[in-house]
Formats: sequence, structure tokens, C-alpha cells
Amino acid sequence: LGSAWVYEACGNSSTRQYPLPTSRTTRLVTKTMSTTHLVVLLGVLLLAGASSSQPTSGDQATLLAIKTQWGNPMQLASWDPISNADHCDWTGVVCGGDDGRAVIGISLPNLNITGKVPESVCDLPSLAHLDLSYNNLTSGFPGVPLYACFHLRFLDLSNNYFHGVLPDDISRLSPALEHLNLSGNHFQGMVPTAVAGLSALRSLVLDTNQFTGAYPAAEISKLTGLEQLTLASNPFTPAPAPLEFAKLTNLSYLWMSDMNMTGEIPKAYSSLVNLQLIAMTDNKLAGQIPAWIWQHPKLEFLYLLNNGLTGKLPRKVTSVNLIEIDVSSNNLTGEIPEDFGNLKNLSLLFMYANQLTATIPASIAMLPNLRDIRLFENKLSGEIPRELRKHSPLGILEVCNNNLSGPLPESLCANGKLYDLVVFDNSLSGELPENLGDCVLLNNIMLYNNCFSGEFPAKIWSLPKLTTVMIQNNGFTGTLPDKIVTD
Ligand SMILES: *[C@@H]1O[C@H](CO)[C@@H](O)[C@H](O)[C@H]1NC(C)=O
Ligand SMILES: *[C@@H]1O[C@H](CO)[C@@H](O)[C@H](O)[C@H]1NC(C)=O
Ligand SMILES: *[C@@H]1O[C@H](CO)[C@@H](O)[C@H](O)[C@H]1NC(C)=O
Ligand SMILES: *[C@@H]1O[C@H](CO)[C@@H](O)[C@H](O)[C@H]1NC(C)=O
Ligand SMILES: *[C@@H]1O[C@H](CO)[C@@H](O)[C@H](O)[C@H]1NC(C)=O
Ligand SMILES: *[C@@H]1O[C@H](CO)[C@@H](O)[C@H](O)[C@H]1NC(C)=O
Ligand SMILES: *[C@@H]1O[C@H](CO)[C@@H](O)[C@H](O)[C@H]1NC(C)=O
Ligand SMILES: *[C@@H]1O[C@H](CO)[C@@H](O)[C@H](O)[C@H]1NC(C)=O
Repeated sequence: LGSAWVYEACGNSSTRQYPLPTSRTTRLVTKTMSTTHLVVLLGVLLLAGASSSQPTSGDQATLLAIKTQWGNPMQLASWDPISNADHCDWTGVVCGGDDGRAVIGISLPNLNITGKVPESVCDLPSLAHLDLSYNNLTSGFPGVPLYACFHLRFLDLSNNYFHGVLPDDISRLSPALEHLNLSGNHFQGMVPTAVAGLSALRSLVLDTNQFTGAYPAAEISKLTGLEQLTLASNPFTPAPAPLEFAKLTNLSYLWMSDMNMTGEIPKAYSSLVNLQLIAMTDNKLAGQIPAWIWQHPKLEFLYLLNNGLTGKLPRKVTSVNLIEIDVSSNNLTGEIPEDFGNLKNLSLLFMYANQLTATIPASIAMLPNLRDIRLFENKLSGEIPRELRKHSPLGILEVCNNNLSGPLPESLCANGKLYDLVVFDNSLSGELPENLGDCVLLNNIMLYNNCFSGEFPAKIWSLPKLTTVMIQNNGFTGTLPDKIVTD
């Protein structure tokens, strides 16, 4: 087996999905008319063409114009005053306002809509929320149709095919704009300094485009109401994380992965006391992980995978709300902090491909929410904590390529959740836990190049989900089954 293959098997961990940006906008709830009479009456009036001067029918006429501009797509079949007189019931239309009849939101994600942002959209005078994400819209930045939406607070154009540069007059978008999401398009060129003119912004979501050059850090740092900032996955000019962002003290979500960042993670970011997620994976960060990260009470998600971070982790860890830690593929040394045992909400612990030494702290085995541990390719020694799995819903244990010794923990299968057990290339010994054959979900078991002995539990061969068994280079005895039957 080539070493490339071994690496693959050990670390099928490279692609992970981050928790999606959490929206802090109150959900717009579709209000439906309670009085059937009024609906009927309105329908009659509309059919008679008698209400064209009323604001409600104005909005209905605008919706029909939008439908026409989009080429009457099937997806908007419900936008039809004859079969459905109440436009507030139409797909994706949200009404509100004083009389509950004004269109305040259009939410049409993931409908394969093609074409452009309709030129009539801002003829809806109360439009506050526009979500056209995950469609097939193409054009340059649709400034001209959208600048006339004076009450727009939420604009989501993410995951379409918009292209070109963002205009220098982008600050002509509504002064009320709180959420701007342009993620997952083909925008290019510099991020204009004019974004700083959108002073009500709480989310600025620019990730996954083709923005280049230097982003306007000083200007962005004036947006002190920002709670969410994403610049990830853009080919920016290599530069360190800007110190100015330390001013964005309302930030809870900071995603700066894969954007050519160099230098160190700023100590100054300790001011970002509201951070719940910090992601800076796939950059060229160097130096130590600053101490504040491990002492940040609100932090829940920490992703620093794939950088050149060095140094030891601190003994003191008081970020007690951490749920996921991924600091893999760096050059971290020293020990895994015993204090990780304080992280009662920790569900995922990835520290693979570093140079960590000493033992896996026993405290980790006590974590009640731990589902997934990947510590492979380090220099860990000593035993795998005996209690591991007994107190947590562990599904994945990957500790291959270390210098671990002693037996596998007896409790490994305590609640039957384990499905991936990868411990090859260590010095583990002793008999396998008797109950390993009761791990009904067990899918992948890689024990090779260790010193295990005794009978290989025959029950394992009939586990329904089993796909991989690699147990060579051990001292197992017993016989192989005549036949293997799995799902
Ligand atoms: C775009 O960003 C906004 C603001 O954070 C968020 O509410 C929305 O869910 C995002 N859209 C998608 C498709 O993730
Ligand atoms: C969008 O298009 C794809 C492929 O053309 C199709 O599979 C899917 O069902 C469409 N979705 C909608 C909502 O029309
Ligand atoms: C939308 O774009 C996707 C990806 O390019 C394509 O697969 C799909 O067919 C397109 N749908 C329509 C309705 O154009
Ligand atoms: C920061 O958040 C707090 C609490 O939500 C809010 O009161 C304050 O106005 C925000 N700061 C800015 C500059 O928007
Ligand atoms: C890093 O910057 C260089 C030079 O500006 C650019 O060519 C490259 O695409 C960038 N890489 C990434 C991963 O953004
Ligand atoms: C990390 O360690 C490896 C192996 O010791 C070494 O080749 C590499 O240069 C180191 N990288 C950094 C950024 O220190
Ligand atoms: C853990 O998660 C729970 C439920 O989400 C939450 O109530 C609690 O505050 C979190 N933090 C700690 C330290 O338990
Ligand atoms: C592996 O651990 C043993 C003790 O269990 C120790 O003697 C040996 O030096 C370690 N090997 C490496 C390569 O760290």
C-alpha cells in the first residue's frame, strides 16, 4: 500500500461543510387574509380592472410585470390573479405593512429562475426583503434596478451567475440595508471602498467570488454594526489579517478562509468578544494560536485547518462553549490540553497532521457530546483513554499513525454508535474488546500494523454496515468465516 493511499484512508476529513451563516433577521411570516370576503371583493375589483389606483393592486400589477420580465416561468405559475386573486398567497410573496396587503418581501430561492433582476422590482414601494439566492441569474451587479428600493433591508443574490466588478456607487443601495449577500457568484476586481457607505450593514457576505487586490479593510472596519463578515475563497493579494477588524466588536461570525492570508492571527482580535465562529482555514498563517482564542467564552466554532501555525497550546482553556475545533494540518507541538475536558459541548475534535506529543488526556473521554475525534498523524503516545466512548456518542475515532500503546478501550462500543475505527500504525496490543461485535453501525475498521492478539471477534463479520476490515500485521488467532453477508 502506497503512503498516499494510507494518508487518504487516515484522513478522509479534508472536505467539511461549515455551519451556514446564521441569519439574525426575523423571519418574515406570510400573512394570509382572514376575511374571505375581502379577498373575493378584491378579486372582483381586480378582474374588473377597477382598482388600479389602489396600492394593493399596484403591487399585484408590479408582480405581474416582474413575472413577464422573467419570461413567465413555470415556477411562478401561482402568480396568476385569475386562479389566485390574492397576491399575498403567491409563491414567495410576503405581505405586510399597515394593512397587511403591501408586498414587503419576495423570497424565491432555488427555483432555476434565469435572466436578470427584473427592472420593476423596486416599483414595490414597501419591499424590504429580496431573496433570489440559488437561481440562474446572470448580469453585472444589478445596481440600477435595486438602487430604487429605498426600504430594502435584506438582499440575497448569492449563488447565481452575477459577474463583473462591484460599482463604486454601490452605496446607493438602500441606506436601511442590513444584510448584503453576494456569496457564490463570479464578481471580480476590487471590493469598492463604497461598501462602507452602507452604514446599517449587519452582514457583509462576499465569500466565494473572484475578488482580487487588497480588500478595503479600513473602510469595512467602519461598519461597526457588522455581526457577520465573510471574505473567504477569493484570490486576494497575500496580506496579513487586518488589525482594523479588531474594531468590529459586534462580529459573531468571521469567515476568512482560503484568501491568501499571511502573518499571525492578530492578538488584537481578543476585542471581538461576541465571536461565535472564526474560520481562517487554508491560508498561510504562521506563529502561535493566540491565547485569547482559548479564553473566549462565546466561541463555538474554531477552524484553523491547513496553515503553518506552530507552538504549543496553552494549559488554560476557558472557551467553554466550543462545539467544534479543527486545528489540523499545522505544525502544532506540545500536548493536547487536559482542560479540553471542560468543553462540555465539544462535539468534534480535529487535530490531525500536527506534531503533538504525550498522551491523549483522559478528561476527553468524559465529554458528553463528543462524536468525532481525529488525532491521526501526530506523535501521541501512551494509551487511548480507557473510558473513551463510555460517556459520549462517539461515531468516529481516528488515531492512526501515532505511537499509541495498550489495548483498545473496553467501552468503545458502549452505545452502539461507533462506525469508524481507524487506529493502524501504532503499537496497540491486547485482545479486542469483546463487545466490538455489537457495534451494529460499524462500517470501517482499520487495525493493521499493531500488536493485537487473541481471537478476532467472529460477530464482526456479520455486522450489516461493514465495508472495510484491515487487520493485517497483528497477532490475531481464530478462523475466518466461510461466508460474509452484509448489507
Ligand atoms: C446570505 O446571507 C444572509 C445574511 O447573513 C443570510 O441570512 C442568508 O441565509 C444567506 N444566504 C444563503 C443562501 O446562505
Ligand atoms: C432545476 O433544474 C434542474 C435541472 O434542470 C431540475 O432537476 C430541478 O428539478 C429544477 N428545480 C426546480 C425547482 O425547477
Ligand atoms: C441552471 O444552471 C445550472 C448550472 O449551470 C444548470 O445545470 C441548470 O440546467 C440551469 N437551469 C436552467 C433552468 O437554466
Ligand atoms: C452591537 O450590538 C448591540 C446588541 O445587539 C447593539 O445594541 C448595538 O447597537 C450594536 N452596535 C452597533 C454599532 O450597531
Ligand atoms: C494568492 O495571491 C496570488 C497573487 O495575488 C494569486 O495569484 C492567487 O490566486 C491567490 N491564491 C489564493 C488561494 O487566493
Ligand atoms: C512544518 O513541519 C514540517 C515537518 O517538520 C516542515 O517540513 C515544515 O516546513 C513546517 N512548516 C512550517 C510552516 O513551519
Ligand atoms: C452548551 O450547549 C447548551 C445547549 O445548546 C447550552 O445551553 C449551554 O450554555 C452550552 N454551554 C455549556 C458550557 O454547556
Ligand atoms: C513510542 O513510545 C515508546 C514508549 O511507549 C517509546 O519508547 C518510543 O520512543 C516512542 N517512539 C517514538 C517514535 O516516539
